[in-house]
Amino acid sequence: MGKDNQSSNMDFILLGVSGRQDQEDFFFILFLFIYPITLIGNLLIILAIRSDIHLHNPMYFLLANLSLVDIFFSSVTLPKMLANHLLGTKAISFGGCLTQMCFMLALGNTDSYILAAMAYDRAVAISRPLHYTTIMSPRSCILLVVGSWVVGNANAFPHTLLTGGLSFCGNQRVANFYCDIASLLKLSCSDIHFNVKMMHLGAGVFSVPLLCIVISYVRVFFTVLRVPSTKSVLKAFSTCGSHLTVVSLYYGTVMGMYFRPLTSYSLKDAVITVMYIAVTPMLNPFIYSLRSRDMKAALGKLFSKRVSS
Ligand SMILES: *[C@@H]1O[C@H](CO)[C@@H](O)[C@H](O)[C@H]1NC(C)=O
Repeated sequence: MGKDNQSSNMDFILLGVSGRQDQEDFFFILFLFIYPITLIGNLLIILAIRSDIHLHNPMYFLLANLSLVDIFFSSVTLPKMLANHLLGTKAISFGGCLTQMCFMLALGNTDSYILAAMAYDRAVAISRPLHYTTIMSPRSCILLVVGSWVVGNANAFPHTLLTGGLSFCGNQRVANFYCDIASLLKLSCSDIHFNVKMMHLGAGVFSVPLLCIVISYVRVFFTVLRVPSTKSVLKAFSTCGSHLTVVSLYYGTVMGMYFRPLTSYSLKDAVITVMYIAVTPMLNPFIYSLRSRDMKAALGKLFSKRVSS
């Protein structure tokens, strides 16, 4: 035990993405790039949307909210991983572990509900353009955002309390680079049947937005097919195509992770979690802004304003 002398008996040990030192160095370098890019990319999106009056509409307000959630989401796990690697420790306190898990679940859920709100917004814009401003009023926009945060948090606290009540009998080696709920449940020596049921239920609640997203895009698809002009078809597909890319990356990896029996988890699954913990929050700003001419114009203005002042 001399090696990890900074860690107390109550601390959990984060084994990392792969558990092998050479690969840990690789992931450290990777996250060292990903984290600042995520922060700067998402921050620029928020600033560009705030500063450009042309982008003061529901689609971009929702996008700014997604960026805000992504900034918090990646800040819950990546700085701790980077700091631990630099300090040569793998320890995280029990409280820190539960806090990390709670924030990660809350923000991850909020993220998925905001993605659903964005898909709904596009479906209304494309299939009911004449009613768009009444349906997506500022009030309903705020409701969608607040609702996302409320449901997101509601799907995090019960799991955190339940996990906090478990005993670990000295099994404190978490097979991941952050405190993931599945990895923690697997370590416990208590009866975790109820916890696992709740985790699967939570994964179900997490997937409700996916259903909304699929329904929204099916609606978009059929509306677009009825329109004879190829130009509008292409425009609709390019907007929705970029949303769908983010959505499939995000849900594909999350569902591959949590809709399984707990016995099938192992350290190699930590690599899957890298996708939704680190990669999708970084990609969001690029996928959304690179395809939007308005967004590019706003970013350009943002920079020229900073240079001239
Ligand atoms: C989030 O959405 C609300 C409602 O549209 C909006 O008022 C707010 O400015 C958005 N947040 C950010 C960070 O842009």
